[in-house]
Amino acid sequence: MSNVEVHWHDHAVSREEREKLNGNKGCVVWFTGLSACGKSTIANIVDHKLNKLGKHSFVLDGDNVRHGLNANGAMLREVHGEEFAKRFGLGFSAQDREENIRRIGAVAKLFAEAGVIALTAFISPYRADRDLVRKNLAPGDFVEIFVDTPIEICEQRDPKGLYKKARAGELKGFTGIDDPYEVPERPELVLDGGKKTAEELAEQVIACLKEKGKV
Ligand code: ADX
Repeated sequence: MSNVEVHWHDHAVSREEREKLNGNKGCVVWFTGLSACGKSTIANIVDHKLNKLGKHSFVLDGDNVRHGLNANGAMLREVHGEEFAKRFGLGFSAQDREENIRRIGAVAKLFAEAGVIALTAFISPYRADRDLVRKNLAPGDFVEIFVDTPIEICEQRDPKGLYKKARAGELKGFTGIDDPYEVPERPELVLDGGKKTAEELAEQVIACLKEKGKV
């Protein structure tokens, strides 16, 4: 899709030159799965391991990004006013989750083009939203990782007490309880979040990135 008023500028430094300097390929490692399945924990261990290997990576995490780029209405209202907050604040409706993932996909793409390994940790429950991020990236740049942890285990962990609230009916539209999660059909990797430790799962991710020639 072109935009006649805004023209694309090619970068003076090519992606290949950036990757050569960085010593790794840029890509988007997209973790998806239920709340408390281990996405952020694994992504952060992978980030640490890559850093120790001298590679360039960065974690984009649901809880953090929703404090800034994808803030909710209440956060925006204070500084920008009611109307702005209504237009741009993001919650957890299907449409807001779609926009959440679209923005993250666009940011992660910039990281990949800068020769950085973007590690994203968002529930991203809708297949169509994830597939769109994949489609907007160069072939091979999207490494989808399904963190497959049984909901019973996620619910036992319940680090923020949100499953408890959802079960009590105090929180509506919570993924896995009264909102859908669409399992990826052809992810690059499935992690068994119920049986293995986060450390073991992170090693699997590193092995996958090595196999794909990203690091
Ligand atoms: S996503 O669905 O749009 O991808 P995202 O990963 O950004 O979600 O945020 C998920 C986090 O928001 C959860 O880990 C949880 O802490 C919190 N949260 C608050 N309300 C909900 C809800 N209705 N469904 C899922 N997570 C929620």
